[in-house]
Amino acid sequence: MSQTDRTQLFDDWAKTYDAIVLSSGGGFPFDGYEQILDEVVRLADVKPDMRILDLGIGTGNLAARFVHEGCIVWGVDFSAEMLAKARMKLPQVNLVQANLLDDWPTELQQRFDRVASAYVLHEFDLETKVDLLKRVALHHLEDGGCILVADVTFPTTMARTEASRRWAAEWDEDEYYWVADETIAACEKVGLQATYKQVSSCGGVFTFAIRGAG
Ligand SMILES: C[S@@+](CC[C@H](N)C(=O)[O-])C[C@H]1O[C@@H](n2cnc3c(N)ncnc32)[C@H](O)[C@@H]1O
Repeated sequence: MSQTDRTQLFDDWAKTYDAIVLSSGGGFPFDGYEQILDEVVRLADVKPDMRILDLGIGTGNLAARFVHEGCIVWGVDFSAEMLAKARMKLPQVNLVQANLLDDWPTELQQRFDRVASAYVLHEFDLETKVDLLKRVALHHLEDGGCILVADVTFPTTMARTEASRRWAAEWDEDEYYWVADETIAACEKVGLQATYKQVSSCGGVFTFAIRGAG
């Protein structure tokens, strides 16, 4: 699928996105959606006025939680329609339209106390995920900061294979749903320390930080 088609897909989804995720009721892929976003904020351990960047902010459901904690929030997304929804809900958030995999615009050339992301990075293969995490950790995190990633994740390859059978009708072979143990090993190799917590039947939260920092 081309980049334009991919962006269009999210533009089209923006109208119904909140209704779908908030009513997913235990199904794949959004089982535990709200609980998972809450867990990101708990693990982020933020204080008022901390600066947060939300990668793939979508309609702003994760960002809203950081705003509620008194944080100063930036959000980046390539979908104009998703950003329009976020702008309506969260006028105080600094929104930037950009592709995460391209060079980031000037507004994002800065460091944040926390960088967070929910249900976005499964779009990328493991190598691309790790490259992006490393780039963010080295160039966009304050000392002692960390990256929190919530997504469709499984603890092991075997668990992911079982899940692909269980949810065969909904499973998307074009997505790169995470496997925690292979992710942690790949991150270790590039100097990123990763921890993982499974939260629902198909979702969990990673924390990434530069090894030895903080
Ligand atoms: C499934 S939604 C998740 C939205 C929100 N983070 C949440 O948890 O509800 C994925 C979002 O990531 C954005 N996205 C996907 N790939 C992207 C990319 N390469 N660059 C920027 N945004 C991207 C989409 O436009 C969409 O808003």
